Amino acid sequence: MGGRREGPLMREKGQSLRGSRIAIAIVIGVLLGCVFAVFYPHGLFISDPPIRNRRIGHSDLKISSASCESSEKVDTLKSDILSLSEKNAELMKQVKDLTGKLRLAEQVKDHAEKQVLVLGKPHKAGPFGTVKGLRTNPAVVPDDSVNPRLAKVLEEVAVQNELIVALANSNVKAMLEVWFTSIKKVGITNYLVVALDDPIEEFCKSNGVPVYRRDPDEGVDTIGKTGGNHAVSGLKFRILREFLQLGYSVLLSDVDIVYLQNPFNYLYRDSDVESMTDGHNNMTAYGYNDVFDEPSMGWARYAHTMRIWVYNSGFFYIRPTIPSIELLDRVATRLSREKAWDQAVFNEELFFPSHPGYDGLHAAKRTMDFYLFMNSKVLFKTIRKDANLRKLKPVIVHVNYHPDKLPRMKAVVEFYVHGKQDALQSFPDGSE
Ligand SMILES: *[C@@H]1O[C@H](CO)[C@@H](O)[C@H](O)[C@H]1NC(C)=O
Repeated sequence: MGGRREGPLMREKGQSLRGSRIAIAIVIGVLLGCVFAVFYPHGLFISDPPIRNRRIGHSDLKISSASCESSEKVDTLKSDILSLSEKNAELMKQVKDLTGKLRLAEQVKDHAEKQVLVLGKPHKAGPFGTVKGLRTNPAVVPDDSVNPRLAKVLEEVAVQNELIVALANSNVKAMLEVWFTSIKKVGITNYLVVALDDPIEEFCKSNGVPVYRRDPDEGVDTIGKTGGNHAVSGLKFRILREFLQLGYSVLLSDVDIVYLQNPFNYLYRDSDVESMTDGHNNMTAYGYNDVFDEPSMGWARYAHTMRIWVYNSGFFYIRPTIPSIELLDRVATRLSREKAWDQAVFNEELFFPSHPGYDGLHAAKRTMDFYLFMNSKVLFKTIRKDANLRKLKPVIVHVNYHPDKLPRMKAVVEFYVHGKQDALQSFPDGSE
């Protein structure tokens, strides 16, 4: 089981290493160009001595004209360097985008090969250590008739059949603004707000934020307007179903989240559900053996249990597969019948195995890297106090562990986007 701990962070590094090597090579090239441009403006092999040496010229007039000329030259050089470094930044961005696309293409190919291997005609198991079960289930056939209007919206908004989706009503307007501002800032275009009331729809439209409003006469929407948190949570799973039926993968997002990088460059896409965790270290996030001690049992006093901190149902990537849709249906059904916390139900349906009287869900799941997809406990308890970890740039930060969400979201922006080193200091670890 030791191999399981090979962290996503490390694989991530390996995968992006090639990309960053290319990027580094480009940067070095451009920088060298700048250096030569400054010191050898006429080229390396021109016999004319550099301007600097002319300072000891024979006439004052000549000197001043030379220095005037040279300061002009310096100015043009400066602007050249500026435009070069702008071009360089643009190139870096393109390299990053390409790396993401390349990785996506490799993932698709890899998954397709495994599907052929497993779903093809019956076959013998391969040699020791070479067999791998299928975790990437095939996507459903898109069915536009489910909701033609939404289908049209998604055609415009989605990129490679993926998008970020958030539900919002007027209660969360201020957080929504921080949310979409951070999304725009990192250059994400494939995101959509499902507006649950008119003011939020208007707010999105006036800010150029892609928005979708369900038809007002659809029954579920009265929940969105008047319902408390939990009723809205049930609604979330019902609405999500339509996106999956239309053939899209959804990165479901709460609005108490700040985006610092494009999450689509950091997904594995090999499981039905890929989710951020409420865990705060390797053990709690990725699972561990928790020993239960019962001394009266003597020789057998130790019972081993398996524990894992729950997945966060406020930020997960869900692929359009049958197990995914079954999960959404199970959760929505239970939430309509019991008074339960949607995140608890989401996890129980995802993890509890089949047993007498119960058929468990057979869905593949993956826990996101808790440093990259960071919850606010990790940030405020650990990261901000550790000089090394402070340098790490997460993909998102979810202020899920704290009730004073808006000020903490703003502080996250100050710290990671504007580099204000003490922006996180004034907050307590937990709530007081
Ligand atoms: C957590 O796991 C990662 C990846 O395997 C590893 O690099 C790191 O050292 C581990 N951290 C601790 C505190 O064990």
